[in-house]
Amino acid sequence: MNLSNNKILITGGASGIGLGLAERFIKENNTVIICGRREELLKEIANKYPSVIAKQCDLSLPAEREGLFNWIREEHGDLTVLINNAGIQQWMSVSDENFYERAREEIAINIEAPIHLASLFLDLKSLDTIVNVTSGLSFVPLTKVAVYSATKSFMHSFTLSLRHLVRDRNIEVIELIPPALNTDLGGKSLHDFAPPVIDFVNSVFEQLKEGRLEITFGYSEAMMKAGPDELRKSFERMNS
Ligand SMILES: NC(=O)c1ccc[n+]([C@@H]2O[C@H](COP(=O)([O-])OP(=O)(O)OC[C@H]3O[C@@H](n4cnc5c(N)ncnc54)[C@H](OP(=O)(O)O)[C@@H]3O)[C@@H](O)[C@H]2O)c1
Repeated sequence: MNLSNNKILITGGASGIGLGLAERFIKENNTVIICGRREELLKEIANKYPSVIAKQCDLSLPAEREGLFNWIREEHGDLTVLINNAGIQQWMSVSDENFYERAREEIAINIEAPIHLASLFLDLKSLDTIVNVTSGLSFVPLTKVAVYSATKSFMHSFTLSLRHLVRDRNIEVIELIPPALNTDLGGKSLHDFAPPVIDFVNSVFEQLKEGRLEITFGYSEAMMKAGPDELRKSFERMNS
C-alpha cells in the first residue's frame, strides 16, 4: 500500500494498536478517521490530534456498522483504506455461567463486524486497501481466551480468501498479525509483560514498505513459520 496521502478508517483507533497506527499514519501525511464506543476517549484523541476525525460507533450492532458506512460514503467518499482493528478479548472458561453471552459478543465484534464492514466498504470506488488485524493466537490458541483465539483463526482464514476474492479489483488485503503487546486488551495490566505498541508499529511500517501482505512480529513471526511439532509444543507451553 501507499503509506502517504490516504484517507484511512481505523476501527478501535482511540487506544492500543489502533492508536499507535493512527499516530504513525498521521506522521506519514494521511487523513485518519477513528471510531469506537467511548465518546470521551474519542474526544480526547481528537483534541490531541486536531486532524483526526472521530466517530462514535458500536460495531457489535449491524445497524451501527451500516450507519458508519453510510456516514463515510456521504462525508468521506474518498476513503482509500479500511483497517479492521477493533476487537475484544474475553478471559473465561466454557463452564462459566455467562460463557455463551460473552462468546456471542466476542464473535459479533471480532468476526461479524470486520466481515460486514469489508462487504459494505467494497462498494466504495476509492477503496484500495483492507487491513485485518488478527493475532499470533490465530495459529496456536490460548485456552484461557478460547473463543478469542478462534475468532482470530477465523479472521486469518477469511483474510486469505478475501485477498483472493478481490484480487481482480486491485484491492490489496493486508493481515497484521501482532503477538502479545502492552495494551489494555482483555483488561488493564493483563498485557503488561508484553512489548510496547510502538515497537510493533515501527516494524509494521518497515514491512509495509517492503510490500509484505502478512505482517508479523516476534512470536507471531515464529508461529506463522512453525511446523506441526513446534505448534504442538507451543500449545503445551502456553496452556500448561
Ligand atoms: N494487544 C495484544 O496483545 C494483541 C495481540 C494480537 C492481536 N491484537 C488485536 O489488536 C486489535 C486492537 O487491540 P488492542 O490490543 O489495541 O486493544 P485495545 O486497546 O483494547 O483496543 C481495542 C479497540 O477496539 C475498540 N472496540 C472494542 N469493541 C468495540 C465495539 N463494539 N465497537 C467499536 N469499537 C470497539 C475499543 O474501543 P471502545 O472500547 O471505546 O469501543 C478499542 O479502541 C484487536 O483486534 C486485538 O484482538 C492485540
